[in-house]
Amino acid sequence: MRNVIQSVLLLAALMSKTGAVEVVYAQLGETATLKSPGGVNLQNEYVYWHFEKEDGLQLAWRNNMGGSGTASAEPWKDRLSLSDASLIIKDVQQNDFGTFLLKGTGVTRLTTYKLLKLTVSVNPLSPLLPGDSLSLFCNAQTLPGHKDPKIQWLNPSGEKIKTSQGSLTVRATSQDNGQWTCVVTYDKKENKATVSVTVLDLSPAPLHPQYTSKSWPLTVPCSIPAHISWDQLKAKDIQDVRWHFVPESGFSPQSLFSLSLADPLTWKADQDRGLRPVTDPKKKNLSLTRNRGTEEDEGDYVCALGFKNGVTLNRTVHVKVLQIISSPGTELISGQQLNLTCSLGHPLPSDLQLKWFPPEQSSLSSPTSDRDLAHLTIPEVGKGDGGKWRCELWQSNARLTSAEITLKIEPKMSSWMLVVICSVTVIVILLLILVFILYRRRQQKMTHLRRRLCKCKTPKPKGFYRT
Ligand SMILES: *[C@@H]1O[C@H](CO)[C@@H](O)[C@H](O)[C@H]1NC(C)=O
Ligand SMILES: *[C@@H]1O[C@H](CO)[C@@H](O)[C@H](O)[C@H]1NC(C)=O
Ligand SMILES: *[C@@H]1O[C@H](CO)[C@@H](O)[C@H](O)[C@H]1NC(C)=O
Repeated sequence: MRNVIQSVLLLAALMSKTGAVEVVYAQLGETATLKSPGGVNLQNEYVYWHFEKEDGLQLAWRNNMGGSGTASAEPWKDRLSLSDASLIIKDVQQNDFGTFLLKGTGVTRLTTYKLLKLTVSVNPLSPLLPGDSLSLFCNAQTLPGHKDPKIQWLNPSGEKIKTSQGSLTVRATSQDNGQWTCVVTYDKKENKATVSVTVLDLSPAPLHPQYTSKSWPLTVPCSIPAHISWDQLKAKDIQDVRWHFVPESGFSPQSLFSLSLADPLTWKADQDRGLRPVTDPKKKNLSLTRNRGTEEDEGDYVCALGFKNGVTLNRTVHVKVLQIISSPGTELISGQQLNLTCSLGHPLPSDLQLKWFPPEQSSLSSPTSDRDLAHLTIPEVGKGDGGKWRCELWQSNARLTSAEITLKIEPKMSSWMLVVICSVTVIVILLLILVFILYRRRQQKMTHLRRRLCKCKTPKPKGFYRT
C-alpha cells in the first residue's frame, strides 16, 4: 500500500515536471504560502526557488544540512521565508503576482507555481443599518487557457450564499454583521479571503426572563456592543434612545427614560418607576436597575434606538416577579391551617425549580426541593413556624431569585388563660362598682354636712343686737 502511494506521488511529481501548474491565490498585502509538493521527501535535497523563469532571480535556497537563505534585495527584502521547502511571501505586492519555480536536485526536478490575485471588497465600507444595501465583490484572476475557478461567498454564520461571478448584493440584516469569506476553489484547492461587515444593532437580549422579587434586585439589561461606537450611531443619524415599559397587567405602555443625544449624553426620566440607569450612557451600557423588585415590575421592558430613516433597533427584556402568598395571612394563631404559595403567577417552566427554606424551628424540615412544591400546606402552625420563610428559584446550578415572607404566630388561648382573663375582668368590674358606691356615699355625706353648715351660716337675728 505504502509503495503504491509512493508511486502515485512520484508520478504526480513527475507530472508536475511535465507542465502541471500549481495555482495559489493571494490578496494584496496578505501572506501567500507556496507549498512544496506534498508527500515528497525533500530533506535530502538542495532546493531553489526562482522567480519568473528557471534561471530567473533566485529567491531562496536550502541545502540538505539545514542551511538556507532568502533574497535580501528589494523588492523581496524581509518578505520571504522558508518553512521546510515551502516559500512564504509576506505582504504580497502587485508585482509578486507571477510565476514561481521550485527546483530540486532529487525527485522534484521542477514545480511551477502561479501566484494569482484575489480581490475582495465591500460597499459601503461604513457601518450599515438593517435594511441598507450591502454589496460584496470577489474577483479571482484567471490563467489564460485554464478553466475558471469556482467562487462562493460564506456569510458570517458560514452559510453558502449564491452569487453571480462573485458579486453579491443583499439587504443587510443583523445576521450579516461579522466576517464574510470568499472561497475560491481551483483544482480542488480552496483559497479564502475575508472582509468584515458592520451592521449596527443592540446586544442580544437575554434568552430567559429576568427574575426578581421584593427582596431581590432588579436589573433590566440593554447595551450597545463593544464593536459599535456612539460616533458610528451618530453617523447613521440616530434620533432617539428610549426605554418603555409594557406592564403584564395589560395597562398601556409607559415611557420610562429617554436619552438626550446632545453632548454630554444624559438620561431624562419620564416615569422612572424608581429605576435608574446603571452607569454613564457614554459607556454604552443602557441597563436600568433598582435595589429591590416590586409586584408591579412584571412585564416587558423595551430598549429602542430610533434613526432618522425610520429604522428602529430594539430589544425586549421580560421581567418576572417571584412572590410568596400566605393564606389566610401573615399573622396567625397557632393551630390554624396555613397555605404558602411561591409562584411567578403562572406555571413554572420545566427547567426551573423552587426550594423552600422554612424558619429553623419550623415543623417542616428544610430545605425541600421539588417542582410540585409551589404550594405548602401546614395543617396546624406552631410557634416555631413564626419567622422568615424563603423560597428560591433555581435553574440547574444558578439561583435566579429568592422571595421572603415573615410570619407572626400568636399562641392559642388555653382554658386556664380564659379563666384568668375572666377572673381579672370580674375583679375589675367589682372594683369599679365598689369605687362607685364609695363615691356616692361620700357625696351623700358631703351634702348632709353642707346642709347643716348652711343652717349655721344664715343665723337668725338675735335680740341683744338691738339698741
Ligand atoms: C451593564 O451594567 C450591569 C450592571 O452594572 C452589568 O451587570 C452588565 O454586565 C453591564 N453590561 C455590559 C454589557 O457591560
Ligand atoms: C422593534 O423592532 C421591530 C423590528 O425589528 C419592529 O417591528 C418593532 O415595531 C419594534 N418595536 C418597537 C416597540 O419599537
Ligand atoms: C389551603 O388549601 C386547601 C387546598 O389546597 C384548602 O382546602 C384550604 O381551604 C386552604 N386553607 C386556607 C387557610 O387557605
